[in-house]
Amino acid sequence: MADTTRPRAEIGVIGGSGFYAFLDDVTEVPVDTPYGAPSDPVVIGEVAGRTVAFLPRHGRDHRFPPHRINYRANLWALRSLGVRQVLAPCAVGGLRRDLGPGTLVVPDQLVDRTSGRPQTFYDGPKVVHVAFADPYCPVGRRLVLDQARQEGWDPVDGGTLVVVEGPRFSTRAESLWYQAQGWSIIGMTGHPEAVLARELAMCYTPIALVTDLDAGLQEGEGVTMEEVLRVFGENVARLRDLLMTVIPKLPAERDCLCSHALDSLDTGLDLP
Ligand code: ADE
Repeated sequence: MADTTRPRAEIGVIGGSGFYAFLDDVTEVPVDTPYGAPSDPVVIGEVAGRTVAFLPRHGRDHRFPPHRINYRANLWALRSLGVRQVLAPCAVGGLRRDLGPGTLVVPDQLVDRTSGRPQTFYDGPKVVHVAFADPYCPVGRRLVLDQARQEGWDPVDGGTLVVVEGPRFSTRAESLWYQAQGWSIIGMTGHPEAVLARELAMCYTPIALVTDLDAGLQEGEGVTMEEVLRVFGENVARLRDLLMTVIPKLPAERDCLCSHALDSLDTGLDLP
């Protein structure tokens, strides 16, 4: 039976590397899922009258590397708390010289170069194929871009995020190859997070902060974790402020493609 006393939230924020806390006055809500425990207990608070759940994808002590994050548990847990719109800040590398550290990118496409990560809720016997041509919520993207401009950022509208398996950074040859494909930014966590959100008919909007130029563009030793965390840390307060202005503007009622992702599909799952 559903637990009616448990706090609920309509909007979810999944924090990335260096983004381990978001809301001030929160209730911690432990959630279990058929896929196991999420990366951390979810915390729920309020932003301008909207209920918001926060979950650091690596755990608050950054104990889960990108390939070990239980993405299915994270998305399932958020949906089971009522979340239908997810904002997903993340650290990425730039694959173009004009996308240097500190640039905010709201990509509109995704290329999956991960391997071996559980990436679906639909493992049979019901066969379900969700549409994923446009992986991100068009409403969320527009709002983030508009608000970012108002907050003094010069955000980049669109581009392709390539998601690599990690946890190592790319070689120069790999990086040059990604760049030659015309892809813009590179990260390790954008897949399968976005597709799992789509499989649960949740809106998903990536907010990518460039922390470094990837190895193919860098001279010297290449990308380091220290550099990624330092640049993300320098920008995290601004990113948090941006989220605070985006959240109140998210629609109370949805009619975007994400909200209709399962309309004609028999999932065979009892979605939370
Ligand atoms: N996250 C931040 N910078 C990155 C890079 N250069 N490659 C992969 N993931 C990253």
